[in-house]
Amino acid sequence: MEKKKLDYRDFLNTSREEILRMSKKEREKFTEMLREEIHEHDRRYYIENEPIISDYEYDQLMSLLKFIESHFPELVVPSSPTQRVGGEPVEGFETVEHKVPMMSLDNTYSIEELRDFHNRVLRNLGREAEVDYVVEPKIDGIGVALLYENGILVRGATRGDGIRGDDITLNIKTIRTVPLKLRKAEELPDLKTIEVRGEVFMPKKGLEVLNRKRKEKGESLFANPRNAAAGSVRQLDPRITASRPLDIFIYTLSYIEGHDVKDLFPTQMDCLRAMKEMGFRVNPLIKRCESFENVVNYCLWLEKKRDELDYEIDGAVIKVNSLELQKRLGSTTKNPRWAISYKFKAKQATTKLKDIVVQVGRTGALTPVAILEPVEVGGVTISRATLHNQEEIQKKDIRIGDWVLVERSGDVIPKVVKPIKERRDGSEKVFVMPDRCPVCGGSVEAPAGEVILRCVNPDCQSQLMKKLEFFASRDAMDIEFLGKETIEKLVREGLVRSIPDIYKLRKVDILNLEGFQEKSANNLIQSIEKSKERELDRLIYALGIRYTGKFASQLLARHFSSIQELSKATIEKITAIEGIGEKTALAIVSFFKDERNKKLIEELKEAGVKMEKEKKEEEKKGESVIYGKNFVFTGSLEHFSRKEAGELVKKGGGFVKSSVSSNTAYLVAGRGGGKKRSEAEKLGVPIISEKEFIEMLEKEGLYSTEEKSKDKDLQKNLEEF
Ligand code: IVH
Repeated sequence: MEKKKLDYRDFLNTSREEILRMSKKEREKFTEMLREEIHEHDRRYYIENEPIISDYEYDQLMSLLKFIESHFPELVVPSSPTQRVGGEPVEGFETVEHKVPMMSLDNTYSIEELRDFHNRVLRNLGREAEVDYVVEPKIDGIGVALLYENGILVRGATRGDGIRGDDITLNIKTIRTVPLKLRKAEELPDLKTIEVRGEVFMPKKGLEVLNRKRKEKGESLFANPRNAAAGSVRQLDPRITASRPLDIFIYTLSYIEGHDVKDLFPTQMDCLRAMKEMGFRVNPLIKRCESFENVVNYCLWLEKKRDELDYEIDGAVIKVNSLELQKRLGSTTKNPRWAISYKFKAKQATTKLKDIVVQVGRTGALTPVAILEPVEVGGVTISRATLHNQEEIQKKDIRIGDWVLVERSGDVIPKVVKPIKERRDGSEKVFVMPDRCPVCGGSVEAPAGEVILRCVNPDCQSQLMKKLEFFASRDAMDIEFLGKETIEKLVREGLVRSIPDIYKLRKVDILNLEGFQEKSANNLIQSIEKSKERELDRLIYALGIRYTGKFASQLLARHFSSIQELSKATIEKITAIEGIGEKTALAIVSFFKDERNKKLIEELKEAGVKMEKEKKEEEKKGESVIYGKNFVFTGSLEHFSRKEAGELVKKGGGFVKSSVSSNTAYLVAGRGGGKKRSEAEKLGVPIISEKEFIEMLEKEGLYSTEEKSKDKDLQKNLEEF
């Protein structure tokens, strides 16, 4: 008789002794089912974003599997969830041949060219055929081919020259969204060998964090997500790859042994659906378009949404949906005739560098800035770009009057990539940094070992204005009505000579300023007053300590209860915080040693600026509706995935459990969900709606409805599309 399928609770209830007592056969079966169970939870967590068990329970399942595998090493298989990072560094990559050559795509850069493609397709099909297309985001990463035998991942390879690529299996296995074993593979009994293709990429956020860490360690930075993905996937040590935030989208079902793919899955949409079923991560923005007009509209829509996505896309890929028609269209030597890419407007452009001016930042750093002939780059007009420092200008040999290549990536400040030397006519001038501060005329110095020149005059007005701007900015003390122009007026009039002077401003002073009236003066005074109550992390950030960004400030505020405590912390104590390195710690310690900064803190305190954390953790425990409480979720939530909701609870110090018990503080009930609700009712556990849950989060400062609206908008737009 077939044994009943085990539930995750059955696994959790199996003691280690029981496992040791099992017969060999029983243990084998048990281990296999446990692995299946873990694969399924991996898929729900990483692919669907909808886990059904808590992290704790997941960890218990993993630990059980590790226990078995360590006692019975013969049971370890390469596809086991424990084997994601099993590899030792390799000497080099082996070359492997692809099942089917990996072609590349022809590019189009305008809607007209795209229309030419459509007309070519119609012409090649030899009749006024009705073709429908699939439009996919073109992921800016590195193309890979994954091979599965009997449902088990056996090989991952780079594209290489299209015929042969590098075997990067060990690295591919470290990517959590790559299934090691396919789902329902045994339900397709003759599915011997299959190959799929997709793009490994690094999400923008992941790259940001990685680069921050690299900067902290003095390592070179990755220029863009594609380089970061390529560099990470080609590491000889899989442990390094494992530490990189990589992800994958799969878009082609290229080979099924013993079948023509199109006989099983007649369209690209069918393939995508099947691959999703098998457990692959498929891009959610892929869309079928019934007409060419829809193709155009969707391409333009994707281009508009490009900056809002958390991964880089550099175009759209348009594919004929029917595999039968794809076959009929065939390919040229390099490219298929049934697909093309529509490349978005380049984020690079050439323009003339009219002048180089020098700006003085809040730390006194002198930054050369390129003044450009205005030019459109990726849909945005730019007229200034940073040149970083003198050394950079010399290294790249950038001269005033040069034609230059400029680049805008993500929301980063535009930069000058290189001069176009071929276009020089001899009138270009070499730039030299000034030897005095261009604002205050004070002397400048380059601290030992640094390339950046700094104005060392502590009273430099430019520095002061920049410091004030930063202090008042949205992410810092958020003084709503204290913008750049007002700051300039206040500093010029001599009303503000230091940061604490902001808090000494009186309404009469402001009314005397040009352009201020009763109402605007009141607004300014009120916004200054409100800023005294800002959270500790904002104050830390607002101080403008070197290397101490928003993220580091949040970490610091979590570990220290006041500015006082932070100011006394040693380097060891600060570096003990996960995520804060030596360079930052050193900067913090020397900041608080500086007499001028001591005075600054003292004066801010006297002015009534809050220097401590809101509440002590212990006090919070008593009051918080989340801290230390157990939450259970049921039904589907509208505003977030279960995973996101769970993470917010954890952030607030609460716990997420998978089943209702008398220890449950709240059952959050979304749409649907039945059993847990009746259990909660039976036990008298409060049942709250998603709306009430959001209110709770908002009260605890864990969530703001605004924050989420961008995501929601994107989803809504897509639904409306
Ligand atoms: S289809 C013959 N779909 O772009 C079909 N490629 O220039 C070729 N890429 O090598 C691949 N997103 O690495 C396809 N949704 C997508 C893609 C995509 C990114 C990459 C891929 C390919 C390159 C073609």
